[in-house]
Amino acid sequence: MDPSASGLAQRLAEADQSQLLRFWNELRPDEQANLTLELQGMDFQEINGFFKNAMETSSGSKHEKLDARMEPVPREVLGSVTRDKENLKDWEQTGLHCISQSKVAALLLAGGQGTRLGVSYPKGMYDVGLPSHKTLFQIQAERILKLQQLAEQQHKIKCCIPWYIMTSGRTMESTKDYFSRHNYFGLDKNNIVFFQQGMLPAMDYKGKIILENKGKLSMAPDGNGGLYRALGNQGIMDDMERRGIESIHVYCVDNILVKVADPSFVGFCVQKGADCGAKVVEKTNPTEAVGVVCKVDGHYQVVEYSEITLATAEMRSADGRLMFNAGNVANHYFSFSFLRDVVQKYEPKLQHHVAQKKIPYVDSEGQLIKPDKPNGIKMEKFVFDIFQFAKTFAVYEVLREDEFSPLKNADCQDGKDTPTTARHALMSLHHRWVLNAGGHFIDENGRRVPAIPSLKDGTDLPIKCEISPLVSYGGEGLEKLVKGRGFHPTLTIDEHGVHELVKNGV
Ligand code: UD1
Repeated sequence: MDPSASGLAQRLAEADQSQLLRFWNELRPDEQANLTLELQGMDFQEINGFFKNAMETSSGSKHEKLDARMEPVPREVLGSVTRDKENLKDWEQTGLHCISQSKVAALLLAGGQGTRLGVSYPKGMYDVGLPSHKTLFQIQAERILKLQQLAEQQHKIKCCIPWYIMTSGRTMESTKDYFSRHNYFGLDKNNIVFFQQGMLPAMDYKGKIILENKGKLSMAPDGNGGLYRALGNQGIMDDMERRGIESIHVYCVDNILVKVADPSFVGFCVQKGADCGAKVVEKTNPTEAVGVVCKVDGHYQVVEYSEITLATAEMRSADGRLMFNAGNVANHYFSFSFLRDVVQKYEPKLQHHVAQKKIPYVDSEGQLIKPDKPNGIKMEKFVFDIFQFAKTFAVYEVLREDEFSPLKNADCQDGKDTPTTARHALMSLHHRWVLNAGGHFIDENGRRVPAIPSLKDGTDLPIKCEISPLVSYGGEGLEKLVKGRGFHPTLTIDEHGVHELVKNGV
């Protein structure tokens, strides 16, 4: 229908966004229909408001002021797998008990576009080249399966960990299709709930929405903090309530070592009576691309790597460690009641963050331009922006080598957070599991590989070793399989047994 007759042109004019109809007369009828559909679903006044607020909040002077107000996490809210070893078992038991009661859910943030990795499909479908060629989704699914079994065995009761998976308009269909083709990796499909986050248009610095072609807006997911709006408007909180969920573990798709629904983390937060918790690793390099958990004006917050000044990131405490070293690994704990309050009350208070981007656009002549410097912004909410509303906050510190190796970038020489680093991190963890369970490795000359590899051997390649999550969730239960035995890499242990694949073998 003609945009003037439908009132659309009027609405756009009032919001100062009439440029979106600039090429209307050049569009085919089907393109006109698609554009109308897209525009009709949008609240331009709201979007203009988001732009105004986001630009104000992101102005440079505010950052400097923020830096001056940052304080490190105090010791009393911190639980640490290294410093509080005596409590670990107890936390884990509490978590396993909650899981056995089917009160714990996992919530996966998988709506990102994987731009840095450069793949056109959802990142969870990425195969980093493990011997098994399992993808991130499969590894996570199998960890959930195993954890359910562990809780069931211990408490002699059938249980489930519902898995909520947030996708975006761009990843929903392919994600659902992938899970269905793989028969949900052995999980009950009724316990996997897919839902979709919102999208927002990219805007130029004057607040005009950008056209990606003559009949289509440039749209992107509204950030992983889009979670809260989506939880409300897609009935997910109701679903959780029906199932009696009390604790939710929210995590990002890209960390190959993620302990999904980690019973120790859940148990720690439950014992602390926390409504909100964050898992962290020690940040050792000031420029590492991780946010830091800290306090600002007495409230907990993550200051993102893109928003901290270098001077603050480089500050050190008396012991020589970085002052802001609580590196956010994007693993969060929420109690159900806190999450419900956030969705119902606090979500509208969250501000969008601004990311300056090079956004392809059609100019006023209708030419497609690919800019070589940033020409506009994308607006995103961040998942951790709700920490400020927590009444009781807990921080749980874990070892990077055991729990954090994110996949962000494509492989390249000496690259960080690549498929290679993720693969190596997983194999090196599993190598350590074998050693801890009393097994060892034998090299091609028949010699026992020392537990601590010598730097002189000129290789920093890990021993090829992969243990299926269906066999072990966190290194447990391996003694009966490996104790006192020597293995030739590649070693794989899966639900069918222990296998050694000699080089050039199968
Ligand atoms: C994120 C954290 C950062 C942390 C780092 C650790 C946020 C905002 N930042 O940064 O503090 O130190 O991980 O690896 O959480 N996603 C969506 N929807 C979106 C955008 C992203 O679901 O609109 C998901 C992605 O699929 C991914 C996760 O959020 O699972 C993190 O996204 P990414 O953009 O990779 O975050 P980082 O910038 O690496």
